[in-house]
Amino acid sequence: MSIDAAGNLRAVRRGVGNAPRLVIGSHLDTVIHAGAFDGVLGVVMGVALFEAVLEALPFSIELIGFSEEEGVRFGVPFLGSCAVTGDLDETTIVLISGAIREFGLDPAELPLTRLRGPIAGYLEFHIEQGPVLEQLGLPVGIVEAIAGQSRLEVRFEGHAGHAGTTPPHLRRDALAGAAEWIIAVERTMKDTPGLVATVGRITAEPGASNVIAGAVTASLDIRHASDQARRGAAQRLAAAAEAIARARGLRVCMETRSDRPATPMDPGFTALMEDAVRAAGYPPHRMPSGAGHDAMILAPHVPTAMLFVQSSGGLSHCPEESVREEDVAAALACGAEFLRILERRHG
Ligand code: GLV
Ligand code: MN
Ligand code: MN
Repeated sequence: MSIDAAGNLRAVRRGVGNAPRLVIGSHLDTVIHAGAFDGVLGVVMGVALFEAVLEALPFSIELIGFSEEEGVRFGVPFLGSCAVTGDLDETTIVLISGAIREFGLDPAELPLTRLRGPIAGYLEFHIEQGPVLEQLGLPVGIVEAIAGQSRLEVRFEGHAGHAGTTPPHLRRDALAGAAEWIIAVERTMKDTPGLVATVGRITAEPGASNVIAGAVTASLDIRHASDQARRGAAQRLAAAAEAIARARGLRVCMETRSDRPATPMDPGFTALMEDAVRAAGYPPHRMPSGAGHDAMILAPHVPTAMLFVQSSGGLSHCPEESVREEDVAAALACGAEFLRILERRHG
């Protein structure tokens, strides 16, 4: 086991042949006040497959526990997976270099994290994070495509002032402006079928109960299965922020931290997963993913497939997140069949 310069945990189970290697992975980081399964379940299932497959395979398996998939710390998701695919841009590298150094790693070695050699594909197990499989009474689901997502930082600037002495018409309250815009975000979501838009974090400065907020920074997370619809909504929300700022005498700037297109999974690898699910004795239900995954970063580079495990109550990104043991066992059985099918292909 090793840690690469992006903080990804990596291990290789060597095969007996030279067939292209299979990469299995998911992420190790979590959101704030998270559950115990988002990401790490997929990594642990990769370890379980390492241990369960006793006979030597004709291909090696590389297991990767990706770092910083959620984007909590820097507002930029998928940092570990972007490092291995070579998709980290210079601005992001500058943003994260200090943290990499503080962790005892060397950002100059980021190019060495790149996936090398012939690769058969990438496989990711993950909890569904929604209620569909539970409603259908199915243990697993095969992901067909992952919705596109943008992450932005929005900053409203007005003027700090005394809460007791500044009359309403002389205020330039950044927090009141941000609040009006957040309601516009919610309205845009409700008016745009298929769109989800969330302001999940907001910081007011200077942040005192008796001071009018002089500046506010807010996050925006916006997703849609159609990239055109997502980008159109992002433009409308930028225009709404400008109009609100103008009317209130504020300044506003918006910075896009991440923009990931909707990503289909590989048809061949997904068909192989469908065969594996059937061979394990389960109905091969195909479904889209509204949540983002490292698979959307790997998919443009190597054939990629994803298998969802039923989430109890459809809950995720909260402490109540849970899975049933029998559903995890079903997903592992599908994974073992997947390896067997790949093995027969090379046999
Ligand atoms: C990852 O959990 C995401 O935000 O989609
Ligand atoms: Mn998550
Ligand atoms: Mn996740």
